[in-house]
Amino acid sequence: MDYNDSLKDHFENPRNVGVVKNYNGYGKIGDPGCGDVCEITIHIENNVIDDIMFKAYGCPGAIATSSAVTEIAKGKDIDSVLKLKDDDVINYLGNIPEEKKHCSLLGIKALHAAVDDYLNNNLKSKKQV
Ligand code: FES
Repeated sequence: MDYNDSLKDHFENPRNVGVVKNYNGYGKIGDPGCGDVCEITIHIENNVIDDIMFKAYGCPGAIATSSAVTEIAKGKDIDSVLKLKDDDVINYLGNIPEEKKHCSLLGIKALHAAVDDYLNNNLKSKKQV
């Protein structure tokens, strides 16, 4: 597989691996086609993702793109994060082989699921006040 240096680096030295201790958003997405899974935890404060970590079981593309997603999303506000697409991850990494482009969806989908989880929990707790 012809991976570029940036993708290889994110695969061999993935950033932000683990679970955010005091996370307030959680997302987990699996790809039924290959069985790979990405789990993302985030901490949001004042509408901004101030901490984000991931754990992934999957191919080099899934690991590298999930790592890239955490780097892209950290420090961004919720609205910007919800507008991110898999193409933003691919551009961030330079490029990825055509047949591995579907792998870039895992991290983005898990990120959006984590933000949705935060928003759902936040709205619920505001309604209870
Ligand atoms: S082959 Fe499953 S995410 Fe890459």
